[in-house]
Amino acid sequence: MKDLIKALPKAELHLHIEGSLEPELMFELSKRNNIKIPYKTVEEVKAAYNFTNLQSFLDIYYAGANVLITKQDFYDMTWEYILKCKEDNVIHTEIFFDPQTHTQRGIAFETVISGIKEALDEAKKQFGITSEIIMCFLRHLSQEEAFETLNQSLAYKNNIIGVGLDSSELGNPPKKFEEVFKKAKNEGFKLVAHAGEEGDVSYIEDALDLLQIQRIDHGVQAINSETLMKRLKDEQIPLTVCPNSNIELKVFENYKEHNIKELLDFGLNITVNSDDPAYFKGYMNQNFYNLCDNLPLSKEDIIKLVKNSFKSAFISDKLKEEYL
Ligand code: ADE
Ligand code: ZN
Repeated sequence: MKDLIKALPKAELHLHIEGSLEPELMFELSKRNNIKIPYKTVEEVKAAYNFTNLQSFLDIYYAGANVLITKQDFYDMTWEYILKCKEDNVIHTEIFFDPQTHTQRGIAFETVISGIKEALDEAKKQFGITSEIIMCFLRHLSQEEAFETLNQSLAYKNNIIGVGLDSSELGNPPKKFEEVFKKAKNEGFKLVAHAGEEGDVSYIEDALDLLQIQRIDHGVQAINSETLMKRLKDEQIPLTVCPNSNIELKVFENYKEHNIKELLDFGLNITVNSDDPAYFKGYMNQNFYNLCDNLPLSKEDIIKLVKNSFKSAFISDKLKEEYL
């Protein structure tokens, strides 16, 4: 099975580029930029990656992002992720970035997007890896701040295919961002949102109905509503599931408890993704390996999961045909 997973060309649809910042690069950037981090060694950093829920991770994750200052820093982080794509045979990737994590610290939107974009352009040139960029609003901040970010992004519209919603889900329901998503839709952005990671079924339903999203990031709580499950199946709305993340953030107790096989068997459009691989112990292939080691996934299931990602990607029908 591992050989099959390695050999299959894959697409990734749920990857936070800030979540690909490995401890080694974090140390290098902290030195380069003279930014203090609360760890002495890489081992100490890794020991701190012991999460109890989403918020316990986010606190550490936002602190880690503080070392990112220059365009070169964003380039280096993105390039390291691209090398992992190469290693794992990921040939298309749609990456999230959180502008507000950086603009709030006084880093220009331009610095962030240009560093990421230049690395992605180089990935296409050197390895033929195709990519898109999706910017996420931080849902613990206000809709007004999301509007500011959307307005800043308009100058870079050519380089940003879509808008997403991430950060602390509980207590920050989709309704809070209804108006800004309406504007993003009018501007021609594709729409996605994290929903049903920790939040209940209503977060998924509201993300679909109020925000008009085209893909659901996570969505594993859908299993708790038969009505929603039927809708997701009938409309083939993609779910970008992130197994390692769900285990590390205690959404499920262990891989054997993960519901991905049930979701897939029900007929949902399920994809596998790495979310924040530097924090959750592994990139794309490792997510597949962990699933296969613990769940009765068949060869056909693996192929289906991989095909679903290409089917659900924000790419032209022509490129889809080429990849499928
Ligand atoms: N930001 C980075 N990873 C996230 C996740 N899994 N859920 C919500 N926000 C995030
Ligand atoms: Zn995520």
